[in-house]
Amino acid sequence: MSGNITFTMIKPRAVQNNFIGPILKIINEKGFRIKAMKMTRFTRERAEAFYEIHKGKFFFNDLIDFMSSGPIVAAILEKDNAVDDFRELIGNTNPEKAAEGTIRKLFAENMTANAIHGADSDENAIREGSFFFSELEQF
Ligand code: CMP
Repeated sequence: MSGNITFTMIKPRAVQNNFIGPILKIINEKGFRIKAMKMTRFTRERAEAFYEIHKGKFFFNDLIDFMSSGPIVAAILEKDNAVDDFRELIGNTNPEKAAEGTIRKLFAENMTANAIHGADSDENAIREGSFFFSELEQF
């Protein structure tokens, strides 16, 4: 049984392109409730810690450069089956493979600048959310 909390980030290029509003509208229309949200920015060090599972992979440096290149919007979302339903809503990591109507199909530019992040498990939703929201245990 899946939990009812997930973690998301609207990534730098989508923020720069003024896509925060359109993306949040889709998220709300799909039944997700925003439990916590902040506009913030990764330092390189914090991005490296957040993405430590990808350290050593060929795309790691590009990922860290990109995610620390400008403001992001981090949020905790609530819905039944939140993790799986949200990953379906955002679409494939590679926007060329993302289904029609998904957030990445609509707003992503490429595999790195792919508009939005969604946690891939209940465990990671809590780990990633705790990175930004110290009051997470209250939600
Ligand atoms: P996301 O799943 O939000 O978090 C990890 C990111 O690493 C992912 O989005 C992509 O932006 C990036 N990534 C994952 N796999 C690859 C890959 N094969 N090539 C380039 N970037 C990748």
